Order: sequence, then structure tokens, then C-alpha cells
Amino acid sequence: MSTLSPHLLLLPLSLLLLLSSTLTTAQPPFQCTTTSTCMSLVGYISPNTTTLSRIQSLFQVKTLRSILGVNNLPPSTPRNHTVRANSTVMIPIPCRCFDGVGMSNHVPNYTVVKDDGLFHIASQVFSGLVEYPKIVTANNIKDPNLILVGQDLWIPLPCSCNDVDGEKVVHYGHVAASGSTVGQIAAEFGTTSETLMRLNNMSDPKSLVAGQVLDVPLKACSSSVSNSSPDFPMRIANGTYVYTANNCVMCTCDATNNYTMQCQPSGLTPVNWKTCPTMQCPESSLSLGNSTTQSACSRSTCAYAGFDKDHILTTLAVQNTCPGSEDNSSGALEIHWRGWSLAMVLFAMIMIQRTL
Ligand SMILES: *[C@@H]1O[C@H](CO)[C@@H](O)[C@H](O)[C@H]1NC(C)=O
Ligand SMILES: *[C@@H]1O[C@H](CO)[C@@H](O)[C@H](O)[C@H]1NC(C)=O
Ligand SMILES: *[C@@H]1O[C@H](CO)[C@@H](O)[C@H](O)[C@H]1NC(C)=O
Ligand SMILES: *[C@@H]1O[C@H](CO)[C@@H](O)[C@H](O)[C@H]1NC(C)=O
Ligand SMILES: *[C@@H]1O[C@H](CO)[C@@H](O)[C@H](O)[C@H]1NC(C)=O
Ligand SMILES: *[C@@H]1O[C@H](CO)[C@@H](O)[C@H](O)[C@H]1NC(C)=O
Ligand SMILES: *[C@@H]1O[C@H](CO)[C@@H](O)[C@H](O)[C@H]1NC(C)=O
Ligand SMILES: *[C@@H]1O[C@H](CO)[C@@H](O)[C@H](O)[C@H]1NC(C)=O
Ligand SMILES: *[C@@H]1O[C@H](CO)[C@@H](O)[C@H](O)[C@H]1NC(C)=O
Repeated sequence: MSTLSPHLLLLPLSLLLLLSSTLTTAQPPFQCTTTSTCMSLVGYISPNTTTLSRIQSLFQVKTLRSILGVNNLPPSTPRNHTVRANSTVMIPIPCRCFDGVGMSNHVPNYTVVKDDGLFHIASQVFSGLVEYPKIVTANNIKDPNLILVGQDLWIPLPCSCNDVDGEKVVHYGHVAASGSTVGQIAAEFGTTSETLMRLNNMSDPKSLVAGQVLDVPLKACSSSVSNSSPDFPMRIANGTYVYTANNCVMCTCDATNNYTMQCQPSGLTPVNWKTCPTMQCPESSLSLGNSTTQSACSRSTCAYAGFDKDHILTTLAVQNTCPGSEDNSSGALEIHWRGWSLAMVLFAMIMIQRTL
């Protein structure tokens, strides 16, 4: 898209449609073959100096904290934190896979303002993260030249929930800067050129064009979160943090403990709960985040396993700390149900799902 000169903005959109199909070919969508939803990331490059809170409202991200977490900014960063023009901010987006394609799940919803055009919205306002024909399709727009001030548009951002080479990853939609190469991008985000090319259906690394949105898989931490927990599948990218369980729990992901998610009580005031429930591991003196050395080669950690209507679930994860040997986090999920009947639990899960 960067091959188009700014003057083209003045041309009628129908002519642009013709031109763009000859100058650049449409990008393949991100492959998303699982039938699930998950969190995914896109890299927004603000065209103008702005603030985190304006970016939060543009992308309709529920909490500022989740933006801070995926950018590894301190939790105390203020809403009006300045974001300079042309700097990249990671945005967490809810992803949904449908018909083999991943798209942001009916967000963000952008309201057309005076003098907007679809090309401008796609390439400037959303920094080229989406191509305008995809906005046309997603919103069933009959005439791309006719959009109305105040009209709401769903901006379908590219995303994916697929595993890559059998590993859990966080997919990141990266807008290739002019002059960058597939090799550089792979090195920057801890992946390989081969993986990037396969994921993005490229046969030649030289075919990368500035402005192309690449599906970049980021290393994610393994976790013990139960598949019945509302935050399942909880994937956190290397070097980031998230708050979960109604804000009671903070989890980080980095190279320590072989990329196993590390969680602890957040100390924040919860949402939906008056106070945070107990975070003690069952039949243990350990509390969430605490570890104890069991023997020469093993260590128990009280790990986060999800939440339900009233509880935070924990599990004692046994880790093998001797290098070279198999990881033995036996994963015996000793979930702390405290006498709940299965029926009650299922009922609670349904209620949680409905309120989300
Ligand atoms: C991948 O590229 C080939 C040729 O370039 C094309 O035929 C095929 O449809 C593409 N697949 C996807 C999923 O875009
Ligand atoms: C952000 O807001 C605080 C108070 O709300 C103010 O003191 C500070 O100057 C503002 N910073 C910027 C960069 O606008
Ligand atoms: C942002 O980057 C574009 C091209 O990459 C450049 O033309 C523009 O001047 C830059 N804007 C600022 C404010 O640095
Ligand atoms: C978009 O948001 C507005 C209010 O912010 C709401 O009225 C409208 O229904 C939303 N549109 C869609 C398609 O979700
Ligand atoms: C950025 O600023 C330019 C003028 O400097 C303006 O035309 C454009 O609409 C602004 N973009 C956004 C997203 O506000
Ligand atoms: C994880 O992040 C650290 C620094 O933040 C980096 O040194 C390391 O290479 C990353 N690991 C992977 C697998 O991406
Ligand atoms: C357990 O972790 C909490 C905070 O996460 C800490 O305050 C406490 O000292 C730890 N206890 C032990 C025995 O390590
Ligand atoms: C680290 O984790 C990977 C996969 O999660 C496993 O194959 C490997 O054996 C582990 N290494 C150690 C030293 O535990
Ligand atoms: C894993 O740990 C369990 C008990 O914690 C032990 O019985 C088992 O032998 C261990 N497996 C390996 C491969 O070390």
C-alpha cells in the first residue's frame, strides 16, 4: 500500500479499486482453522501523536491494563501517556476463526466522521492493518463511495488461533515497514523465515512489500488453565503480562521456568467480586505464585488453573529443575472445588459465559 502516493487519496474509490488490483495483490487472510476464539495481537502504527486512551477507544479495548500488559509497560502508566507518531503499539484483539479465516470478533466498531473514506479509514486510521475491500465485504457495503457520517463499521482485523508447529503461540499482525526483510522480522520476533513464509503463503522472501500485514507467531507460555475457565485458552506472549480472574490474578510470561506462565495475586480491587477469593493451593501451605523445593531435582509451584463464579482455581505444578531431563509437571489438576457439585459448576460456567 505504501507504493500508492498520497495523491491517490483524491481519486474516486472505484478507480482506486482498479489501480490497487494492478499495483498490489490482495493479501491472503490469516489462516485460522480451529473452531475457537482466542486473544490475538496487532501492531498499530499511529499516524499522528496520540495517547494510549485514544488508541484504547479506537480499538475498543475493554481495559487500558490489557494494552499495558501486551506492551510490557508498567501497570502505573497513565491513560494520557503520549504515543509518538509512527511508533508501534501492540493491541489485544478477540479473535474468531470462521471458514478457515481469522478476524477480530465484530470489533472494533468504527463510527464514520466527516470527510472519511474507506481507503483512508483502512490505510490511515487503522494504519493499514486491514484492506478496505475487507471492510466493504464485512459490512455488506453496496457502494464503497457512499458511506455516511455516523455510520458504524466493523473493522475486521486479521488474527489467528492456530497452533504453529504443534506449539501454542500468540499471533501478531505486523505491518512490514518499508525496507524491512522477512529475515529481520523473523529475528526480531523470535521465529524463522521459513515459518513466516509458510504461515503467510509466501514462496519468495523478496515478495515482501512494505505495508503487507504479516502473521507473526510469538512464543507463548504453557499454562495449567482448565478448559472450563472463561479465560481458556490463556495464552500470554513472551515478555508480556495479563490480569485475569476479575483482576485478582496477574500472570507473566518469560524464559524463566522454561516458558511456564507465572501467576500471583495482583493486589488490585476485583471487578464482579467484592473481594478476591482464596488463592491457596489445595492440601498445601502454598499460595498462588509460591514455590517450594521438594527434592534435588523438583520444585512445586502453586499455579493458576482458572476461575469460576466464586473461586480461583489453583494446582500444584511439579517442575523438574535439573537441565537435560524431561519436564515433569505431571499436571494432576487438583482443582479446589470446595464441595461443589458438578451440576452447580456447570450452571455457573453457563452463567459466566452468558454474561461475557
Ligand atoms: C497461496 O498462494 C498460492 C499461489 O501464490 C495461491 O494459489 C493460493 O490460493 C494461496 N493460498 C492462500 C490461502 O491464500
Ligand atoms: C496526564 O494527566 C495528568 C493528570 O490527570 C497530568 O498531570 C499530566 O500532565 C498529563 N500528562 C500529559 C502528557 O498530558
Ligand atoms: C512516519 O513515517 C512515514 C513513512 O514511514 C513518513 O513519511 C512520515 O514523515 C513519518 N511521520 C512522522 C511524524 O515521523
Ligand atoms: C457500534 O457502536 C455503537 C455505539 O458505540 C452502537 O450503537 C452500535 O450498535 C455498534 N454497532 C455494531 C455493529 O456493533
Ligand atoms: C493525522 O493528521 C493528519 C494531518 O496532519 C490528518 O489528516 C489525519 O486525519 C490524522 N489522522 C488521524 C488518524 O487522526
Ligand atoms: C523471549 O523474550 C526475551 C526478551 O524479552 C528474548 O531474549 C527471548 O529470545 C524471547 N524468546 C523467544 C523464544 O522468543
Ligand atoms: C507467597 O507469595 C506471597 C505473594 O505472592 C508472598 O507475600 C508470600 O511471602 C509468599 N510466601 C512464601 C512462603 O513464600
Ligand atoms: C521445556 O519445555 C519443553 C516443551 O514445553 C520440553 O520439551 C522441554 O523438555 C522442557 N525443558 C526442560 C529443561 O524442562
Ligand atoms: C514425575 O513425577 C512423578 C511424581 O511426582 C513420578 O512418579 C514420576 O516418576 C516422574 N516422571 C518422570 C519421567 O520423572
